[in-house]
Amino acid sequence: MAVESRVSAERIQDQKPRDQFKSQLGFIFAAAGSAVGLGNIWRFPYMTGTNGGGAFVLLYLICVLFVGASLLLVEFAIGRNGKTNAIESYAKIRKGAKWIGFLGFFSAFIFLSYYSVVSGWTVYYSIQSFFGLNGLAPDQIGNFFGAFISDPVKPLMYHGIFMALTVGIIIKGVSQGIEKSTKIMMPMLFVLLIILVIRALTLPGAWEGIKWYLTPDLSKITGGVWIAALGQVFFSMSVGMSGMVTYASYLGKHENLPKTSIIVALMDTSVALLAGLIIFPAVFSFGLEPGAGPGLVFITLPAVFAQMPLGSIFSFMFFVLLAIACLTSSISILEMPVSYLIETRKMARTKAALLVGAIAYVMGIAVSFSFGIWSDFTLFGKGVFDLFDYFGSNISLPLGGLAAAILVGWFWGEKDAVAEISNNGEIKGTIVKAWFPVVKYVVPVTVVLIFLSNLGILKI
Ligand code: PHE
Repeated sequence: MAVESRVSAERIQDQKPRDQFKSQLGFIFAAAGSAVGLGNIWRFPYMTGTNGGGAFVLLYLICVLFVGASLLLVEFAIGRNGKTNAIESYAKIRKGAKWIGFLGFFSAFIFLSYYSVVSGWTVYYSIQSFFGLNGLAPDQIGNFFGAFISDPVKPLMYHGIFMALTVGIIIKGVSQGIEKSTKIMMPMLFVLLIILVIRALTLPGAWEGIKWYLTPDLSKITGGVWIAALGQVFFSMSVGMSGMVTYASYLGKHENLPKTSIIVALMDTSVALLAGLIIFPAVFSFGLEPGAGPGLVFITLPAVFAQMPLGSIFSFMFFVLLAIACLTSSISILEMPVSYLIETRKMARTKAALLVGAIAYVMGIAVSFSFGIWSDFTLFGKGVFDLFDYFGSNISLPLGGLAAAILVGWFWGEKDAVAEISNNGEIKGTIVKAWFPVVKYVVPVTVVLIFLSNLGILKI
C-alpha cells in the first residue's frame, strides 16, 4: 500500500508541466557545466601531449571555430524547438531522424561508464591530498597513481560513489538539481584555475613548456591528429550525443540561443587552454614526459602542489572542484537517456536514473579493469578504456554531429531553423546570418574530410 502510493505520487510528479531552467544564467551555467569537465582539464592536456603539442592545439581551435561552436547552436535549436527528449525532438523535424537520438542514447552509456571511473579517480585524489600525496617526488606520485588505477577493488568504490552522486542529482530534476548545483560550482572552478596558472607559469623552466605547447610544428599534422582534434572538440563541447539537445529542451522561448552558444564555447575553450597552461609548464619544469597519456594530470599536478606552500589545501580544492566539474558533466550525460525513458517509455524519473546508472556502473567495471587485471584483453587492438574512448569521441560523436548538421541544413530548412535561433527574427547579427550556411556546408564538409583523412583515403 505504502509502496503503491509512493509510486503513484511519483507518477503524478512526472505528469506535472515539464521542469524548466529558471533563468538564462542558470542555463548558461548548466550548459557550460556540461561542457567543462574531464574533457578540458584531463583529456585535452594528455591528447595535446600525445598528438604533437602546438600542432594539435592549432587544429583543435580550427575545429572549435568551424565545427564545434555552430553545432552547439544546432543542438540548442533542435532541443528548444522539440521541447521534449532528444529522440522525439529529432522526430519533430523529420521522422526518419530518430536514429540520431538513439545513437546518442547508446553513446551515453559508453560515456557515462568511463566518465564515472575517471571521475572516481578525482574523488580519491581529493581525499588523498590530505594524506600521502604531498611530499612525494614526481616519480613516486607516478607509482602511486599506477598502483591505484590498476587495483581491482579501490577504483570501483570511487566509481560507485561518483555514480551515486550523479544519479542523486538527476533524481532531483532540472531546476532543483542541475541548475542549483552548477551555478555555485562553475565560478569557483574558474578562480582556482587562474591561481594555478599563475603558480605554474612562475615555476623554473616554465618557458620550455609554454613554447612546446603553443608553437605548432606543422610537420606533426597527420590524419590521426586531425581526427583526434575533432574528437576532442566534440567531447569537450558535449556535442554529438544530444546532451545539449536535451538541456535546451528545458529552455523557455525567450532565451538568446546564439549568445548562449558563444559564451559556452568561449568558456569551454578557455578552460581547456588554461588547463594546458598549468600542465605543460609544470611537466617541463619537473622533467616529466608530456606524452604520458591518461595519467598526465594525476601525476603532474600533484607534483606541482607538492612544491607549493599549503600545497595539500590547494590540491584538495583542485580535485574537489575537478570532481564537481565532472559531476556537472556526468549529469548531462545521464539526463539524456533518462529524459527519453521518462517521456516516451513512461518510466518514473527515479527508476530511470537508477536503471541507467546501474547499467553504466557495470560497464564501468570493465573500463576500470582495463587499467589493471584486464590490461591484456584487447578488441580491435585496443583495451576497453581506449575502445570506449575512441569509439565514443572519434566515431559516435562526430557522426551524430554530422547527422544533426545535415538534418538542420538540408531538411529542416533555413526559414524554420533561423526562426528558431533568432526567436522569430528578434535577434539579429552576423552569427545569426553566418550560422546556417556554416551548418549546411562547412560542418559536413569538414567532418567528412577529417573522416576520410583518418581512413587514409585523403591527405590533409
Ligand atoms: N564535455 C564533457 C567534458 O568535457 C563530457 C561530455 C561529453 C558531456 C558528451 C556530455 C556529453 O568533460
